[in-house]
Parts: sequence; C-alpha cells; structure tokens
Amino acid sequence: MSHDLFAAARAAMAKCYAPYSKFPVGASLRTEDGRVYSGGNIEVASYPEGWCAETTMLGHYVMGGGGEIAEICVVAEKMDLITPCGGCRQRLAEFAAPGTKVYLCDQTGIARTITMAELLPLGFQGDTLR
Ligand code: THU
Repeated sequence: MSHDLFAAARAAMAKCYAPYSKFPVGASLRTEDGRVYSGGNIEVASYPEGWCAETTMLGHYVMGGGGEIAEICVVAEKMDLITPCGGCRQRLAEFAAPGTKVYLCDQTGIARTITMAELLPLGFQGDTLR
C-alpha cells in the first residue's frame, strides 16, 4: 500500500533540479483523505538559495489544500535511509502530527519506518505564537 508513496517520491526525485550537488532527493506524503503530494530538491547557482525535496513537497501540499498528513516518504538516489535535514524536520513538524509515519528508503522501497516525533523530538512549537 505504501509502495505507491515510494514510487511517487522516486518519480519526484527524477524531476529534481540538482546540477550542483548531483544529489537527487525525492519526498512524498499522503493525506488522511488519500491525496498524494511530492517534490524534488531544487538548487540555485547561489547555493544557499536552493531548497530541499521536502520543502517542494510541502509547498504542493499546502497549495493543494493541506489537511492531516498520514505518511511521509523520503528517498535519495545516492544515500540509503536518508533522513530529512534539520530545517525540513521543523517544516514537516509544522504540518505533520507527532505520530505521523515517516518512511526511510533504500533503492528498492521503504526500509525503515519512524514517527515524526522520533524525527524531531522536543521540536519548537508555534502554538504560543498564534
Ligand atoms: N536535500 C534534500 O532535498 N533533502 C534532505 O533531506 C537533505 C538534503 C538536498 C539539498 C541539496 O539539494 C542536496 O540534497 C545536497 O545537500
């Protein structure tokens, strides 16, 4: 069932724009109501201006209407079991619940499942800013 999420992340990875690092990454998520959003990393010649696959994915998700996130999947062509960077952990935690499943992948599929809370324990929460 979750293999389609891996396929979506792989398809997004194939569309990444990473001419500088040559390190393609893909990410995908499924909402509780079954919508799938994905993204690849996008780099810029002024290196710090590029952004991660997870961030592209979240942009699509928010513009697609947002909602509860059931599962997230991340894959990298050159790194098995890649985990989202620190900044993306914070961005993911903005929209995912502590119990949201996060799938870490090798080149054939989902290799490990963790939760959002495991990915970002003790993360900063914006509740008091609202
Ligand atoms: N990258 C991601 O897209 N997601 C991550 O979780 C880690 C890193 C990208 C950013 C950059 O385009 C390339 O990988 C090398 O850092």
